[in-house]
This record gives sequence, C-alpha cells and structure tokens, in this order.
Amino acid sequence: MTTATDVISIEKEHLLQVYRRSSIVFERGRGCRLFDADGRGYLDLLSGIGVAALGHAHPRLAAAIADQAQQLLHTSNLFFHPLQGELASRLAELSGLPRAFFCNSGAEAVEASLKFARRYWHAQAQPRAAFVAFEHSFHGRTMGALSVTWDDHYRAPFQPLLGPVTFVAAGDVAALDDAITENTAAVIVEPIQGEGGVRPIGMEMASAISAACKRTGALLIADEVQCGLGRTGRAFCSTALGLQPDLMTIGKALGAGVPIAATLFSERVAAAAAFGDHGSTYGGNLLACRAALVFIEELVDGGLMAHVQRVGAHMESKLRALASRHACVREVRGAGLMWGLDLDRPALPVVEAALQHGLLINRTSDTVVRLLPPYIITAEEIDEAIGLLDAALLAAFGGQHR
Ligand SMILES: Cc1ncc(COP(=O)(O)O)c(C=O)c1O
Repeated sequence: MTTATDVISIEKEHLLQVYRRSSIVFERGRGCRLFDADGRGYLDLLSGIGVAALGHAHPRLAAAIADQAQQLLHTSNLFFHPLQGELASRLAELSGLPRAFFCNSGAEAVEASLKFARRYWHAQAQPRAAFVAFEHSFHGRTMGALSVTWDDHYRAPFQPLLGPVTFVAAGDVAALDDAITENTAAVIVEPIQGEGGVRPIGMEMASAISAACKRTGALLIADEVQCGLGRTGRAFCSTALGLQPDLMTIGKALGAGVPIAATLFSERVAAAAAFGDHGSTYGGNLLACRAALVFIEELVDGGLMAHVQRVGAHMESKLRALASRHACVREVRGAGLMWGLDLDRPALPVVEAALQHGLLINRTSDTVVRLLPPYIITAEEIDEAIGLLDAALLAAFGGQHR
C-alpha cells in the first residue's frame, strides 16, 4: 500500500519543485468535506482555490462526467460537437457578451483577452499595443498574463515580459486618468482582486475606468476568473460595479473541478477575429463542456446563486463578529462566498493552526486569510468553520480575544 510518505518522496524526486505543498495527502471528498489518507476529515473552505463550486463528489456532476466518458470525450476543434454552442449561449445569457472562446485555464483565458484586444486595434489599422493593469493584480503565469500581473516576485525571474504595461494603484483615480491614453489597447481589472488579498475595486475607481475607456476608446477586460460565476452571489462582479467589459475572462468554478475556462467577447471585438487567429487542442472539449453545463444549470436553474446570496450574508455577519473578537484582524473584505481577513501580521500560522483543527483555508498576499468555500456550503457548516477559525486564531496568536 502506498503511504503518504511514499507519495511525498516520489513527488520530491520527479516533480518540478514549484509548489510548496502542505504535507496532507487527500484521497476523497464529499460535499464540503475532504478526507486524507488516514481517513481524517477536513471542512473545505478553499474549494481547490475557488474551483469545486459544487463541492466534492457532487452526484449530478459525477454522473454526467461518467455518462459523457461513455459517449465521447474529445474530438478537437476541427469538428463540431453539440455542447460548445449550448454552453456559449448560456454564458452569453448570463454575461451579455455574445461570443466565447474556450480554453483550459484562467491564464489562457487572459492570454486570449490580451491577444484579441491587440487584434481589435490591428483590424482598425491603429497600432495600439499598451495595457493598463492594477497594483496587486493577479492574472496568471503565462508570459502575457504574467505581464499584467503586479507582484514582482512572480515577474522578475522571467523578464523581459510583454509591454508596455502600466500599473495603477487601485485607489488612484488621477494616476488612472494619466495611464489610459489613446495608445492603450485595453485596461484589465479584477472587480475583486483575489490573489492580491481579496480587495474589491471601489465604485469610484470603477466609474473612472468606464469614463477613461469611453474618453480614449481603450477596451475593458474584466478578469472574473476568481470572483465571477456566482462566487459573490451575482453572476459577475463587473456588472454590479456598472462596468461594461468588451472582454471577460472566466475559469475556476466553470467546470466545478474539470479544467475549462473561457474568454467572452463583445460583438465588436469578436468581429476582428479571423479563422486561424487563435486555437486550443483541448479547449471546450465534450467532457469540459458537459461539466460546465451541469455547473451552470445548478447555478442558475437549480437556485445555487440565490443560495450563495443567503449563506454569503450569513458568512459575512459571522466573520465580522469573529473579527470584532480578534484584535489582529485589521479588515474583513469580500462579498458572497469570497472573503479575506486582513491581519496585522503574517497569516501563515493561522492557516497551519486551522489545518490542525480540520479546517482548510489559505493565505494570500502574506497577511490575508482567504476563504473560498464551495457554493453548496450550508449555514451550519459556516458556523462550524467560524468556530474552527476562532480556535485557530487563538492557537496561532495566543489568548488575544478582545
Ligand atoms: C483573477 C485571476 N485570473 C487568472 C488566474 C489564473 O488562472 P489559472 O491558475 O487557472 O491559470 C487566476 C488564478 O488564481 C485568478 O485569480
């Protein structure tokens, strides 16, 4: 029998060492719970970084995947199949953006958005190549996506990156106005920054982005990979901010665990695309589309979005009450089922203590404890998680209850 130690040592020998993993080996899951190789259960408030929106081993999703595997998994994009158009039309209904390009990861969706922003200007015979992005942004690890990602720790070893890119502080409207010019191909924004520390873009900045795009003609890319698709109780966060993106990127929750992502296009940007401009071998295959259709059906037709609104409000009030008891919590930020507790110190000890207590959370941006539970989480599970987080905060930093 393979032990946890075997799993870890074979990885050490044969995997590119780019992930600092915690030492747990997970074997199975059900709902909001994960179980390790020793059978120990954990309450999952991370959902594989915002992916397992339907929780683990969701019966409808599992049955659909098994059924699809028995029919047809993949044919390539050289041929039609029945599911891509169906999924694209459901996404068009939700987003108001009529066309989709399917790929496999958030970074690829961002990559396509940058390419087609430039493609649009190329078609207008105007050489607009520059991008404007935000401080604390995270858009992925491929060269283009990395170029609009802010953190120098991710960027520095891979220079030179794509340019020109100007980064603007998310609160600095004047800097935004200076940065967006008639040379800007597109502005890319996460309506709620995820990896950068769960930082919502304010209404004032959102209005300034809209105004600057209108003034200069720059395209707007909304990166909804983490905050979109019902995570905050609404289909997309950009619409709530009054933004009208020309391009939108989605991923993570879309396949509820099966890798699929998409770039969504307004008609005017899509009109610039020609056959052969872009492509993906796997993008939008039958397996991925089938899973995504189950997710969208649960979200929209099955009432999951309304559920996220209800339990999200409950989670917010519980988190604010928890924060009021712990002096180390500087701020509670987020919406729906996407939350960050910004601490006045590094957050890693809380994450480690939580794991000891059987609660899965993570740290982002050094001081932020991030919570991204499955959408199916119940109010009772939230109460249980808050109790465990309370204990983890006490264990990590001692008796600092206010
Ligand atoms: C907002 C945002 N965009 C893009 C990405 C990249 O997605 P992926 O890791 O699937 O490439 C992420 C990943 O965390 C993200 O949060």
